[in-house]
Amino acid sequence: MPLDNLQQPQKKSPFQGILEADFDRFRFSEFPQPLADYILDRYGIDLRGCYGDQPVRLIIGKASGQLSMEPHQVQADADGGLGFCVLKTVIAEDPHGRQTMKAWAIPVTRMKVEKITGKSGQEGWTVTWIGRGWHKSFASYLSFFSRALAIGADAGMLVVPSFKAHLPASDDDPWKRSEYDHCVGELLKVWRQFHPNQPMPVEFDFSPTLAGSGLAQDKARILDWLATVPSLIKDAARRALDSPPEKTLRVGIKVFNSLFDDDFQVTMVEMLMKNAGKEKGPDFIVYANRLFNPQREYQGVRGVAYGGPDLSDRNLRVLRRLCQDHRRGLFPHWVPISATGNIVSGTIAYHYLKAGATSLQIHTFFQVPLSCYPRKVGSRIERALHSLLFSPQDGLLRYLLLEKEERGVAQLSAQEVSDTG
Ligand SMILES: Cc1cc2nc3c(=O)[nH]c(=O)nc-3n(C[C@H](O)[C@H](O)[C@H](O)COP(=O)(O)O)c2cc1C
Repeated sequence: MPLDNLQQPQKKSPFQGILEADFDRFRFSEFPQPLADYILDRYGIDLRGCYGDQPVRLIIGKASGQLSMEPHQVQADADGGLGFCVLKTVIAEDPHGRQTMKAWAIPVTRMKVEKITGKSGQEGWTVTWIGRGWHKSFASYLSFFSRALAIGADAGMLVVPSFKAHLPASDDDPWKRSEYDHCVGELLKVWRQFHPNQPMPVEFDFSPTLAGSGLAQDKARILDWLATVPSLIKDAARRALDSPPEKTLRVGIKVFNSLFDDDFQVTMVEMLMKNAGKEKGPDFIVYANRLFNPQREYQGVRGVAYGGPDLSDRNLRVLRRLCQDHRRGLFPHWVPISATGNIVSGTIAYHYLKAGATSLQIHTFFQVPLSCYPRKVGSRIERALHSLLFSPQDGLLRYLLLEKEERGVAQLSAQEVSDTG
């Protein structure tokens, strides 16, 4: 369903006046913290939840990228009340510093935040650039991870590393396990200084640029990657700590939007779900990284990733299919899904929840021009949350209040809305 068919609600809940008052008040004043406690007390809506299976103070967090590369950015996420922050993707290396995915470790080019019109005619925003993963040293990523964990621990915000490692290009290209072992082992060392008894969540980034890289032209190869990567990460943790991975690690696979059709997107997730719940499968899925336009040129490079309305349209289409299949009992296993892609309004956030996502990750909406936010003070995080949650027209609270009323309950949690358990 295109987003212009995602109608804003006509009905108003009895809380509408309170929502309007909060929206106006928070345009110029600080949010009460913890924000989710305030929302629960005032509206009976529980926005706490889980990222994967790990509890978070708010189901909304920051997606991996250019906005999670520096401690001050992570601090702003913590101060703004986000539930989690996924750090920029680091490119794995073996103990000798060799990186097979080196092509992804290139310096950042200028980013252009620009308007984009989706196929449905809906307007939105996309960020155009040519950069890829973390381009500084692996050691500097580890010290950044440590700083970020300290900030997160102080604030009660989950901090999550992200990495990309070797993916074979052909049958003659054996998996480079040493990259997985070294990267996961080193990340775990840092994590366990802060959280010795809590499993480390980690995202493996199948980035959109893979779609155009020549590596991902073969469906069977992509499915082999999805079937193998989670087990390599779990093996790496087992070797590093000599302990069962379920005690030390939670593996999240960030699915990319391939150049193939929706059916193949469904097949990709089916492959992950098939192995989920077993030793070799993922513990959660992040769905789904940006689209790829192989024709468009930017700064002399052909092929760019993009987002905006087409991204959320496609992601929602695929997630709805998966969620329906799940409800019909077609999956032997199901793992939590964290949604990413054009979450720029409560409308889109709500539809991701209804399509089975249990947490929401944002990049672009934390990067749009300040004039796009109705809130006139504070960080972009606070401004974005204000609009996403409290907008009287299309804020997430408006949707959840209506659903709470329809269900006739005194309290409703965002997790109940997803209801894929
Ligand atoms: C400039 C930029 C850099 C990104 N870098 C990464 C990255 O390093 N790793 C990753 O997993 N995703 C990366 N992403 C993807 C985002 O995490 C996110 O999944 C995607 O942009 C869709 O969400 P959005 O529509 O809110 O931007 C990047 C996105 C942008 C716009």
